[in-house]
Amino acid sequence: AAVKKYQFDIQVKNVSRLCHPKPIVTVNGMFPGPTIYAREGDQVLVNVTNYAQYNMSIHWHGLKQFRNGWADGPAYITQCPIKTGHSYAYSFNITGQRGTLWWHAHILWLRATVYGAIVIMPKQGTPFPFPQPYQETNIILGEWWNSDVETIVNQGNKLGLPPQSSDAHTINGKPGPLFPCSEKRRKQNFPPISDTFAMEVESGKTYLLRVINAALNDALFFAIARHNLTVVEIDAVYTKPFTTNAILIAPGQTTNVLVKADQTPGRYFVAARPFMDGPVPVDNKTATAILQYKGIPNTVLPSLPKLPAPNDTNFALDYTSKLRSLNTPQFPASVPLKIDRHLFYTIGLGQNSCPTCQNGTQLTASLNNITFVMPKIGLLQAHYFNISRVFRTDFPDRPPVPFNYTGAPVTANLGTSLGTRLSKVAFNCTIELVLQDTNLLTVESHSFRLHGFNFFVVGSGIGNFDPAKDPAKFNLVDPPERNTAGVPTGGWTAIRFRADNPGVWFMHCHLELHMMWGLNMAFVVENGKSAEESNLPPPKDLPPC
Ligand code: C2O
Repeated sequence: AAVKKYQFDIQVKNVSRLCHPKPIVTVNGMFPGPTIYAREGDQVLVNVTNYAQYNMSIHWHGLKQFRNGWADGPAYITQCPIKTGHSYAYSFNITGQRGTLWWHAHILWLRATVYGAIVIMPKQGTPFPFPQPYQETNIILGEWWNSDVETIVNQGNKLGLPPQSSDAHTINGKPGPLFPCSEKRRKQNFPPISDTFAMEVESGKTYLLRVINAALNDALFFAIARHNLTVVEIDAVYTKPFTTNAILIAPGQTTNVLVKADQTPGRYFVAARPFMDGPVPVDNKTATAILQYKGIPNTVLPSLPKLPAPNDTNFALDYTSKLRSLNTPQFPASVPLKIDRHLFYTIGLGQNSCPTCQNGTQLTASLNNITFVMPKIGLLQAHYFNISRVFRTDFPDRPPVPFNYTGAPVTANLGTSLGTRLSKVAFNCTIELVLQDTNLLTVESHSFRLHGFNFFVVGSGIGNFDPAKDPAKFNLVDPPERNTAGVPTGGWTAIRFRADNPGVWFMHCHLELHMMWGLNMAFVVENGKSAEESNLPPPKDLPPC
């Protein structure tokens, strides 16, 4: 095992996309940011120095951080932000994990430009459980706004409305040729080089693509014209391989696919476009990149892939049902079979009064009708040092009033109750959590991230979860194991996990909009009996509050 050291300088840099130059917050002046490379078993040390005028905090999305919430990163949950002119060294061990994860800012909407890949290679001498690819490439999907994102978000909040959506989707920070920024360039089908990502392949070779959805608010379809994709890993967990012409990836998720350059040598479009099957307006801006066979001149124009329609629910359900853990003796799926606690959380949108907002109301989102309120100091500190009155541990196990969750839209009594309420969990207890979308205001799809753990997605369905019938259909043999799970529009998702990691672990919708509106909560997992099952002490340089 080695120690991998990185220096992350948070700095503002001028970057231009769609012919709109603007200052953005970056790591080391790069957009997307640098990739962290490590091997299973390594220790990683990332010293973050903040030279920007914003507070900063970085999350290592998908790393379990056993006993080590201090390095997890969500602002005001496990640490206070790194202030301008200050540094914090995130130090963590990579134990029992290998594959593709990613890192991103976990404060305000700064992850719009502050994100990058984490690539963890398997231990020396341990091959992938699939044919060794010839080469690999990171494909990070994102969003781009022509104006300053924080300004846009604040304007939306003032009006009590969602902020204006992004101007483009991006692949490795670039929107591609379908987003021409001037009429002349559009006619020539020739965007500036800085706007298009291209990857070169050799005929006959197989490539591993590490696809990451860093978009703020959209689940995305991703495909390559005429080339099949073989899914081999999701959220850094190996899957039973299957072949598909497109993948679906929710915000926060990662998917590794193998692609063979087995078509007529040429140029092919790589494309990503939102999946949106709710009543909300469809945003169908397509980001493109180019897959180019070696020796093919640039003048040959690429052909577009067939992506599923933006509202293709059937494709989404079918694709999701194919995701299975590899579940071999070497990589077993250790699904908890005996459950200590059953939780049922409803996901709702709402509207609370807001004296400072233009029309006197603001949009909110809630779990079991509770809208999460960010504390002023880190919850992990409050827990570790026994500081009272920062949070309560009475988060309810079920909604206050059962109703027909996915029936006719409910537009009365939309007020939610505000609070920093957590759910206390005994060490090592097994949990089943059903996340139920509701038609409060409107049904919508979600993407739930649980920090500190991987969990198994044992079931999912459309409509109301039926506790009498649905559990019988759960997959308890080889369900997908992940760190971020989609909840279908007007449906539910059931997950199971073992609370074997002491600390305070955030759970939230990875759609930035919903997170900002309060679609969050946290679990406090108590220490176990021994020191090896207890929180580590905080590092000396942990940012003060
Ligand atoms: Cu990418 Cu709180 O997570």
